[in-house]
Amino acid sequence: MEARIFFRFLFLSLTFGILFLLLTWLTFPHAPPSPPELLDCPRNSPWCISKNRFQHQLKQPNTPEPTRLRDHGRDTPRHPLDPLTVQEISKVRTLLSSHDLFRASLYTLHTVELDEPEKSLVLGWKKGDPLPPRKASVVARVRGASHVLTVDLSTNEVTVQKTGQHSGYPTMTIEDMTTATVVPLQSAVFNRTIVDRGVDLTDLACLPISLGWFGKAEEGRRMIKVQCYSMKDTVNFYMRPIEGLTITVDLDTKQVVEISDKGKTIPIPKATNTDYRFSTMEHNRVINLLNPISIEQPKGPSFVIEDDHLVKWANWEFHLKPDARAGVIISRARMRDPDTGELRNVMYKGLASELFVPYMDPTDAWYFKTYMDAGEYGFGLQAMPLDPLNDCPRNAYYMDGVFAAADGTPYVRSNMVCVFESYAGDIAWRHAESPITGMDIREVRPKVTLVVRMAASVANYDYIVDWEFQTDGLIRIKVGLSGILMVKGTQYENTDQISNQDDLYGTLLSENVIGVIHDHYITFYLDMDVDGSDNSFAKVHIQRGKTSQESSSPRKSYLKATKIVAKTEKEAQIKLKLYDPCEFHVFNPTKKTRVGNPVGYKVVPGGTAASLLDLDDPPQKRGAFTNNQIWVTPYNRSELWAGGLFVYQSHGEDTLAVWSERDRDIENKDIVVWYTLGFHHVPCQEDYPIMPTVSSSFDLKPVNFFESNPILRVPPNVENDLPFCKSPY
Ligand SMILES: *[C@@H]1O[C@H](CO)[C@@H](O)[C@H](O)[C@H]1NC(C)=O
Ligand SMILES: *[C@@H]1O[C@H](CO)[C@@H](O)[C@H](O)[C@H]1NC(C)=O
Repeated sequence: MEARIFFRFLFLSLTFGILFLLLTWLTFPHAPPSPPELLDCPRNSPWCISKNRFQHQLKQPNTPEPTRLRDHGRDTPRHPLDPLTVQEISKVRTLLSSHDLFRASLYTLHTVELDEPEKSLVLGWKKGDPLPPRKASVVARVRGASHVLTVDLSTNEVTVQKTGQHSGYPTMTIEDMTTATVVPLQSAVFNRTIVDRGVDLTDLACLPISLGWFGKAEEGRRMIKVQCYSMKDTVNFYMRPIEGLTITVDLDTKQVVEISDKGKTIPIPKATNTDYRFSTMEHNRVINLLNPISIEQPKGPSFVIEDDHLVKWANWEFHLKPDARAGVIISRARMRDPDTGELRNVMYKGLASELFVPYMDPTDAWYFKTYMDAGEYGFGLQAMPLDPLNDCPRNAYYMDGVFAAADGTPYVRSNMVCVFESYAGDIAWRHAESPITGMDIREVRPKVTLVVRMAASVANYDYIVDWEFQTDGLIRIKVGLSGILMVKGTQYENTDQISNQDDLYGTLLSENVIGVIHDHYITFYLDMDVDGSDNSFAKVHIQRGKTSQESSSPRKSYLKATKIVAKTEKEAQIKLKLYDPCEFHVFNPTKKTRVGNPVGYKVVPGGTAASLLDLDDPPQKRGAFTNNQIWVTPYNRSELWAGGLFVYQSHGEDTLAVWSERDRDIENKDIVVWYTLGFHHVPCQEDYPIMPTVSSSFDLKPVNFFESNPILRVPPNVENDLPFCKSPY
């Protein structure tokens, strides 16, 4: 991510008008309950009657946004891990409002989410059993202090948890972010400098920018920095920074703390060519490169979503829910064994635990840009409704998120997650025989996968997170980056004018616009439960073996694989190395295949990047969970957020790196694997005015988990089974 929820100052009736607009925008769907209904479409079409088609979520041509929204007023939890419902959130709100801590004061709720039952209760639960007691976990701020509370919805009991000493603050509320952006207007100095720079106050767009922690200046008060842009003549105001102007705001008192105004001589880049909306493209300049394309499933999709959250597809079954902080949570991922028919555990819980996005410009208006998008902004809170047909294909199913606003009111984020089957024309497995064998064999199976997708727009940047399940047991976790760069204004219009390239801290992308170099790290929490909770982690070290002098082999060297089981956490702190490679296995030491290999899954890194910042640079201390690409910790309910529970302005004393230093035993224990996917981003001109998606991924792949190829017996495609659209070639 880069910057933040922005917010235009239309100055209707200032703060309240704007807040009201924003809140109505966020809360509208939960209002009047109306029964879900199917839209008119040919009833005889299998496309329309298939179980998973929720027609009311399809955008109708020429109508804005989803016209019919799902009614969540009557949702009831049916699985121990189901998220809090609208009714449950309302009840939490009521119970809290009469609690001693809140009764007499203003308070804000920063988190209201399901307090998941103990793992053993969830593992022991079967459909039809009564649900374990429903509880909510709440993070609230009252009179300048943060509290963690548990609300038991069955007994109506509210318990205040001890959190001990912590330096940071909870995830900002949407209200924090919006109020921060209007606070600068209290200052006549601010108003004057905006006008002096030739910007009309009605053309301002400002972003709330988390400021990390650099020492004394950030201590003892919850603060934020605000920077502004001109949105005159463009919706892409990000490309028109009012450079060097930074307003530090106290988030609790809502007052200006400091104004730093250093860029007065830097022009605001022009609006020309910054718009990216199709509707504004000149008709004769539209480039049509492709014929229309979509995937048809005349018999309907091959997946069902039972009880709103349980996804069953091919040989997979898992629980899926939106989450305000992580975006989505995949739980209890299990795979059906082709030989025994039994559902086997693979992963108890997987999620994006934290992001770390440091910018590489140490100057006054930039040094603090070292975002942690999950813990500071709420990765799920920033996930906007997906655009049917474009964000996800036509055959997608959409899931809504139900969250709580700062005052505890439930609201619905519609179409936040999509689930669809993907067929990219790839091959699941194949073999063909050459004619020299005399055998005419061509055996090929097409690859179809199931994708769970969400996209978070953390202000300018867009993150697309895919969990892709394959029938052969592989899970691919992919992160795509798109959206708009966070850019810096400059007096330069051409690289000819630049004497010292180092002073740019990036690339000149357009006249007066620098794309600043930055990194993105996304750290995933993967509670693997391979055929049971107790697992071990091993590095399978791939090394050069040397043939001995006495050997009769003409070879001098070969590769050998040595399995080294990590006994404690420190032995599982992994830095990836191309010339000293390892495989990374999570295996169940007590469960073996027919021929004696322990059943396992391996973590397979894809393209990634490692942070090169100084380990004692303050941002890197807070982002120390990126110091290794892989970590393994023993399962601990309270170690879920890699940067700490209270990550905002934290000093880095509660990160994965600190937990792992305890060096606890991890052999044959319930373990959690952490994997960090990284990107270095040196911007280029193609990233202007909006970036084509850049993706990277890693895999969780079965390793001796099955007795043999688990999709050996699946049939190939035959023409007659396929939909009517025939290729003319
Ligand atoms: C700054 O400008 C805004 C918009 O015109 C106005 O509402 C506000 O009162 C001004 N602030 C000061 C201190 O004059
Ligand atoms: C669980 O995690 C918390 C937070 O890191 C820690 O205080 C506690 O000691 C941990 N428990 C164990 C058994 O490691």
